[in-house]
Amino acid sequence: MRELGMHASSGRPLALVTGGSSGIGRELARQFALHGFDLVIGGSSDRVEEAAAALRLNGAAVVPVRSDLATYDGVEAAWKAVQETGRPLAAAALNAGIGGDRATRRAAVRNKFLPERVKTHRQAQMARPS
Ligand SMILES: NC(=O)c1ccc[n+]([C@@H]2O[C@H](COP(=O)([O-])OP(=O)(O)OC[C@H]3O[C@@H](n4cnc5c(N)ncnc54)[C@H](OP(=O)(O)O)[C@@H]3O)[C@@H](O)[C@H]2O)c1
Repeated sequence: MRELGMHASSGRPLALVTGGSSGIGRELARQFALHGFDLVIGGSSDRVEEAAAALRLNGAAVVPVRSDLATYDGVEAAWKAVQETGRPLAAAALNAGIGGDRATRRAAVRNKFLPERVKTHRQAQMARPS
């Protein structure tokens, strides 16, 4: 098991929220926690640790994963964190990406900051039931 408190026998369902460290993903993660889910949350910065600590105050066991989902290795790391819980994934919110207005997001994709092929390939795998 990756983290204390992440026991298969807890009876709580497990959710993955990519981009759970801020914005929409952070609120999604909070809602999962309030509705009885344990969590694996991802983010690209150290904000993910702070978000995990806040979510634990809602009674959830939370595994934070800091990795860059624009890379193959980063996606693999996120998926490995899910697998290391030893628990089936009940829900996945594949939310990580570029926030901001439409122009900002388009520019980021145009600059290949987030190669969608990498993101889509492994996220499709994450979305399959365990
Ligand atoms: N806000 C909008 O109006 C809007 C409109 C349409 C679509 N969306 C989409 O909704 C999603 C969330 O938007 P938001 O406004 O909540 O954005 P946000 O506040 O900027 O949050 C983005 C989240 O994604 C994570 N992230 C970004 N790039 C990453 C990477 N390469 N690897 C791993 N994690 C990464 C960030 O992690 P860190 O914080 O740790 O860096 C953060 O947790 C995005 O996919 C966005 O494209 C948003």
